[in-house]
Amino acid sequence: MTELIEKLEKQSCLTRDEYVALIGGRTPELGELLFEKARCIRRKYYGNDVYIRGLIEFTSYCKNDCLYCGLRRSNRNAERYRLTKDEILSCCKNGYELGFRTFVLQGGEDPYFTCERLVDIIKAIKSEYPDCALTLSVGEKSFEEYKAYYDAGADRYLLRHETADEGHYSLLHPEEMSAENRKRCLRDLKSIGFQVGCGFMVGSPWQTVENLADDMLFIKELQPQMVGIGPFIPQHDTPFGDKKAGTLELTLFMLGLIRLTLPSVLLPATTALGTIDPRGRELGILSGANVVMPNLSPREVRDKYLLYDNKICTGDEAAECRNCMQMRMKSIGYDVVVSRGDHTNTEYRKRNENDLRS
Ligand code: 5AD
Ligand code: FES
Repeated sequence: MTELIEKLEKQSCLTRDEYVALIGGRTPELGELLFEKARCIRRKYYGNDVYIRGLIEFTSYCKNDCLYCGLRRSNRNAERYRLTKDEILSCCKNGYELGFRTFVLQGGEDPYFTCERLVDIIKAIKSEYPDCALTLSVGEKSFEEYKAYYDAGADRYLLRHETADEGHYSLLHPEEMSAENRKRCLRDLKSIGFQVGCGFMVGSPWQTVENLADDMLFIKELQPQMVGIGPFIPQHDTPFGDKKAGTLELTLFMLGLIRLTLPSVLLPATTALGTIDPRGRELGILSGANVVMPNLSPREVRDKYLLYDNKICTGDEAAECRNCMQMRMKSIGYDVVVSRGDHTNTEYRKRNENDLRS
C-alpha cells in the first residue's frame, strides 16, 4: 500500500480502484506516511504559514431541507436570525482590527437576501476593505446571480458538493435538490472567475469507500482552489439525529489524500473537526491542512447557527478565537499570518482592480 502513496505523491492522482484500495486498506502506519508527505508538500507551497478567514454567519434562515443540517426549514426548534448590513460591517471592522484579511459571508439560503441586497452588502464591504478578499457561501444560485456577486467584488465562493455520487446525494437531500445542479453551480462559479471551493462531509450516512474515491476524482477534475471537508456530526432535531458521526481518523486521512491530489490547494482544518476532537484542528494542520476559519459572528447569535450538535466556540468573542487559534498553531510550530491568503496558482481570473472602482 505504501507504493500507492508514493504514486500519488509523484503523479498527484490515482485511479478509482487505487483510491478505493488505499482508503479501504488504511492503517495508522500508512496514515503517518501520508501525513509526512502531505506536510512536506504543503511546506513547499506555503511554508509554515496558516491562513485565517473570518467567518460571518449572517443568516440562519434557510429554504432548503437537507436531511443532515440543523438549519433545515423543517427544524421548528432552530432559532432564526439575520444580521443587518450594519451588523455585518461591524463584524468586518472587528475582524480587520484583529488581523483578518479575508471575510467569509456564510448563510442559509435565505430569500430575504435577494441578489440586490447581497450586491449592496458586497459593494459596501469591498469599498471599506479594498485590501481584503471576500468569500461568499450562500448556496445554489443562477449563473446571472453569481455573475452579479462577482461583478460587485466578491472574490471567492464556497459550495460543498457534499457527495459526488448522485444516488448518495439523493439520500442526503430532499427530492427537489440534485447533485447535477450542485455541479452546475460549481462549474458556473469557476467559469465566472471565482476562486472556488467544493467539499464534502466525511462519514455521512450511507457513505462508502467508493463514494469517497469518487469525491477524490471529482475534485481532481474540477480543480478547485479550496476544498472544505469535515466529519458529519448528527444534529438531534434532524432525521439523521441518531446516525453515527464521522471519525477523526478518516477525516485526517482524507485531508492528507487531498493535499497529495491537489498540492497547492487551500485546505481548512474545519470547526467540525475541532468539534469531534479537542485537538482536531491542530491534527488537521499536521495532516496537510493550511487554513483555519475562526468565527467573527456577534456572540449573541453564535449559539443559533447550529448545523450540528456540540459546536465549539459558541460562547467566545472573535478576539478570543483569534488568539486561541494563534496559540494553537504556535504550539505545533505553525504561524497564523495576516494576509489575504490567495491560492498560489493564478488559474482563476486575476481581477482588474480598476473595474471595481468605476
Ligand atoms: N455535520 C457536519 N457538517 C455539516 N454541514 C451541514 N450539516 C452538517 C452536519 N450535521 C456542512 C455541510 C455544509 C456546510 C456549510 O456544513 O457540508 O455544506
Ligand atoms: Fe474559538 Fe478556540 S478558536 S475559542
